[in-house]
Amino acid sequence: MSNGLILGIESSCDETAAAVVRHGREVLANVVSSQVAMHALYGGVVPELASREHLRNIVPVVRQALRDANLAYKDLDAIAVTAGPGLAGALLVGVSFAKSLCFGLGKPLIAVNHLEGHIHAVLMQSVEQSTPDKAPVLALVVSGGHTHLYLASQVKEVWRYRNIGRTVDDAAGEAYDKAAKLLGLPYPGGPWMDRLSSFGDATAVRFNFTEINRGTEAEPSFDFSFSGIKTAVLRYVQTHGMHSAAEERHQAIAALASPGLDEIRALCDVPVLNLIASFQHAVVENLVKQTMRAARHHGALRIVVSGGVAANQALRGQFRDAATRSGLAVAFPPAALSTDNAAMIAAAAWPHFVQRDFAGHDLHATPQLRLG
Ligand code: KG4
Ligand code: ZN
Repeated sequence: MSNGLILGIESSCDETAAAVVRHGREVLANVVSSQVAMHALYGGVVPELASREHLRNIVPVVRQALRDANLAYKDLDAIAVTAGPGLAGALLVGVSFAKSLCFGLGKPLIAVNHLEGHIHAVLMQSVEQSTPDKAPVLALVVSGGHTHLYLASQVKEVWRYRNIGRTVDDAAGEAYDKAAKLLGLPYPGGPWMDRLSSFGDATAVRFNFTEINRGTEAEPSFDFSFSGIKTAVLRYVQTHGMHSAAEERHQAIAALASPGLDEIRALCDVPVLNLIASFQHAVVENLVKQTMRAARHHGALRIVVSGGVAANQALRGQFRDAATRSGLAVAFPPAALSTDNAAMIAAAAWPHFVQRDFAGHDLHATPQLRLG
């Protein structure tokens, strides 16, 4: 008899995570071991180090999740793992471990797409999972690796996804992190840019986005491009002589044991704060506008926004305003489920479990795995 208990395992990037979720909704344990502090020393994720840390952490993290849930391996109904997309070596640690567990315990294995996981981080929170009139849900997954729009529709337990837009170059989180690096801010820069932006004038610097549409007039695609704004920030820093001050800021922050907002803000002059505020304003406006256009075109009544950048306060505020104006509902994951975690993997696995959609022991990691 099934207790609906799924152990989720996630190791696609720089977090080793394990969680136990009952019936795709009730989080009994959610353990995340982050490598951010280690990668921060290098200003970005170093794939070889990530794999090594996953290897070191996977067993203690899974054991901790079971302890937190007060369960033993035998109580589980299935084990779900992120099969992609992500870093090859990092994914391989989770996939190999999940496969060996399933083999040893005789439990079914479920392969989950990381992006489906991010979408379910929001869906698992809402009581009514489908809209009454079966209108599709529009999902924006916006993180350090992705800026993708999906139409998600549910028929009984089965979720189907259709990709209707994506970034053609950098992801939004990547642009945040690169702009922050140019200004000497710590890695990852997104949260710092978000917090500092309220101290600057968002109208000080004008950034433009080029319209990108790989689709046709009848079937447009709702794409994004963030490499242009990254280059524009670089050019602004160069032409306004901000480079050496950014280097000094970087050194000063590196010398602080645990830098806080007030200390970092004190190291930023008015032009830097204005540049940060203008960058945030432009990126958020672009994300919201493009998503709302897609929602109108496809008749979506509900928008879910997930991934690391979904933690952004301005993004949340502007999405709420735009959705209210258009009579749409918008939802975000709680803070603990917006960045990478395994609860979202176990939740996304539930419909697969119900359909007995299990993976074989030949499952492999797929770094470029697509959704929809
Ligand atoms: O989903 P996630 O943890 O990992 C990936 O799958 O990429 O997302 C991490 C990304 C980083 O680029 C980080 O800078 C960005 O999310 N991020 C933010 C904020 N919090 C995290 N970007 C803007 N504003 C934030 N508050
Ligand atoms: Zn992610």
